[in-house]
Amino acid sequence: MKVTIVGAGKMGRAIGTRAVAGGHEVEVVDRDPAEAGKLAEELGGGATALEGDAPFGGDVVVFALYYPGIKDAVSQYSDRIAGKVVVDITNPVDTQTWDRLATKPGSSSAEEVAGLVPEGTSVVKAFNTTFAPTLAAGEVAGHALDVLIAGDDEAAKKKVAQLASDAGLRPLDVGPLSRAQQLEQLGFLHISIQEPLGLGYASTLKLHS
Ligand SMILES: NC(=O)c1ccc[n+]([C@@H]2O[C@H](COP(=O)([O-])OP(=O)(O)OC[C@H]3O[C@@H](n4cnc5c(N)ncnc54)[C@H](OP(=O)(O)O)[C@@H]3O)[C@@H](O)[C@H]2O)c1
Repeated sequence: MKVTIVGAGKMGRAIGTRAVAGGHEVEVVDRDPAEAGKLAEELGGGATALEGDAPFGGDVVVFALYYPGIKDAVSQYSDRIAGKVVVDITNPVDTQTWDRLATKPGSSSAEEVAGLVPEGTSVVKAFNTTFAPTLAAGEVAGHALDVLIAGDDEAAKKKVAQLASDAGLRPLDVGPLSRAQQLEQLGFLHISIQEPLGLGYASTLKLHS
């Protein structure tokens, strides 16, 4: 499949690395075209940088951006994401306090984004519980990373699950898009224990049964 990554930062690099490893086509978009070009070159595997107002080629569009900026970007790129699968990877932490999320109780970034996308566009929550360095590596201590996925469109979730499994990761469908509320809290918890437990953003959350 073809994947468009909006945001040539740490997570854009990590998800791009995994997508290329899984044999998928990647195109990168950034507000700085030079950054998109640099990342595309670094990713290799035929990855390209998309310039100007060219339509997005990906069936899946990953917004590797911060909250609440993701909401402006989704509106900005509205015409170019219509009918596609939009992936929200954000951990919308309130960066004023660092002790809560910035979203309203009973909502999530992903649900807010779902309220902004054009009709026929599906929103999937994924990758927010994995840190960029571990995601780029694909594993921690020999264990494939778990990618927790939430969404209301089964076909859309299957596409994101395929992307993860082709990349050597373990996708886990955790339910409807409203589960993004718990995923965002889980991502926040994982972030908030890094310093106290001295984990250095090298840990991963893993389900064993
Ligand atoms: N880092 C992690 O380990 C991690 C783990 C899980 C989830 N997340 C989530 O992933 C998201 C991205 O985090 P990150 O660490 O990858 O951030 P980052 O390194 O700052 O990357 C974001 C990139 O997107 C660019 N950008 C911002 N607005 C844009 C727009 N409208 N159109 C195109 N490009 C735009 C930024 O450009 P500028 O530099 O010019 O602003 C920057 O290059 C966040 O929501 C974060 O909560 C991160």
